[in-house]
Amino acid sequence: MVLAAGQGTRMKSAVPKVLHGIGGRTMLGHAMTAARELAPEHVAVVVRHEREQVAAAARELDEAALVVDQDEIPGTGRAVQCALDALDVRTHATRAADLVHSADEVHDTDGAHPLGDGLDGAVVVLAGDIPLLDGATLAELLAAHHADGNAVTVLTTELADATGYGRIVREPGTGDVTAIVEHKDATAEQRAIREINSSVYVFDAAVLRRGLDGLGSDNAQGEVYLTDVIASARAGGGAVRAVLSDDPMLVEGVNDRQALATLGAELNRRTLERWMREGVTVVDPATTWVDVDVELARDVTLLPGTQLHGATTVAEGATVGPDTTLTDVEVGERASVVRTHGSLAVIGADATVGPFAYLRPNTVLGARGKIGTFVETKNTEIGEGSKIPHLSYVGDATIGAESNIGAASVTVNYDGVHKHRTVIGSHARTGADNMFVAPVTIGDGAYTAAGSVVTRDVPAGALGVSRPQQKNIDGWVERRRAGTPAAEAAARSRDEGDEGAGGLGPQAKRELAEHNALTGAIPKVSRTGDAADPESSESA
Ligand code: UD1
Ligand code: CA
Repeated sequence: MVLAAGQGTRMKSAVPKVLHGIGGRTMLGHAMTAARELAPEHVAVVVRHEREQVAAAARELDEAALVVDQDEIPGTGRAVQCALDALDVRTHATRAADLVHSADEVHDTDGAHPLGDGLDGAVVVLAGDIPLLDGATLAELLAAHHADGNAVTVLTTELADATGYGRIVREPGTGDVTAIVEHKDATAEQRAIREINSSVYVFDAAVLRRGLDGLGSDNAQGEVYLTDVIASARAGGGAVRAVLSDDPMLVEGVNDRQALATLGAELNRRTLERWMREGVTVVDPATTWVDVDVELARDVTLLPGTQLHGATTVAEGATVGPDTTLTDVEVGERASVVRTHGSLAVIGADATVGPFAYLRPNTVLGARGKIGTFVETKNTEIGEGSKIPHLSYVGDATIGAESNIGAASVTVNYDGVHKHRTVIGSHARTGADNMFVAPVTIGDGAYTAAGSVVTRDVPAGALGVSRPQQKNIDGWVERRRAGTPAAEAAARSRDEGDEGAGGLGPQAKRELAEHNALTGAIPKVSRTGDAADPESSESA
């Protein structure tokens, strides 16, 4: 039974307390994961506060879980009573169904329920707000319960400051638990006790049923306390014992945001320690955050400022960071991901990403591929060895193998109504500053000219050019910006130049020489030249 009906007032939040996250899971997720590790016959989750949200979260975590509504009567005892009633009903239903399929008859049972009392065996109860509690600890508690033949077994720990917790009162000599006294109900003497109730228990089902029947709410909080079952368990001759954990953080509950942060940091520290033992290098544990469900291989290196969330996996020899946040990203072997923000993406083996890359969902980068600096990708498949090195947006695109996308290119995928795809083949070389107005296809081995707005398909092996030709207007600066430093520089360049060619680049000098050879004259320097044949001036 996972108790998740409480309000969590001290969180001061619109989000129910058990749905606050820690280590990439909600607290409810941690509780139900730990519970499921025991392979129990049933998992019941008790809900009330923000019922719909919590119930939906519980079902998403385990569709077989029994979601139980607590009524208006408050307290952990009432929560467990509601869960037990629901489990008894379920148990009876199962038995009735079994009977229908067998030849057995239901015998007269002298007033008792013909299908028995209901649930039997061990009932593990845990609060839904203990994020570090794990299945192994629950299993130890359950093993102790069975080994010692207890009626009730409580998980406890000792705290330096036990304020607010229920105190464990033990019988001198045997050390058995005689009572758990809530802080608000405790005497000064009891408040001096440092051993506290963690809100994790194993009960014998029959003991629990009998104990809950007699519970009242005559206490400082006017609630039905689960802890009061202890008295009736002992009165019935059962043994109530405590298993004392020497790891307070493991059993500590979250009541406010401070505890959420403290336990979050502790969980992260433990997660990193586990990975370091498995052969992962964590350069700076203080600034590295790894969710509990992340998978890391041997010889992965995590550089400072790295956050790995969700179902992220990093394969052997890969380096992530510094300053990288990946959520549900698959990083291939030996890949390098530097200063990157990514989600729902796949990065191939030996690929490189960043610095300063933004990988949005459904980005798939092939082996040896590159998504470089200031590049954003979305819903795009990039083939093996293909590169988008600089300053580009590539969305809704398919790029083949070994292609290179020139700097500052954009797949113009959105026409204001619909999204369209850009398809670029293998071994293509697209020029810098291209706009691929989708839908558009660039064939295998095709080139495109720098600065092109590509609106039509470029066949395999063709050069696509789409841009106005360059015009130079001679003497414009000296005429229209006379007296400026630019005009003076232009005049100097003209006057100082040998044969009037001073300051010209090699292309203009060559054109001038050709002109002179043809005319035999020394002409007025012409710096006019139409854009050169793009076939001679392109570069990727
Ligand atoms: C409870 C224990 C206390 C223990 C402490 C550990 C009781 C009476 N007290 O006190 O001995 O030291 O936990 O953290 O049990 N819940 C319900 N329904 C309710 C009230 C609570 O489902 O009506 C759930 C909450 O969602 C939470 C858990 O029970 O998951 C504990 O409730 P909380 O109010 O935090 O109990 P505490 O006062 O802290
Ligand atoms: Ca609590």
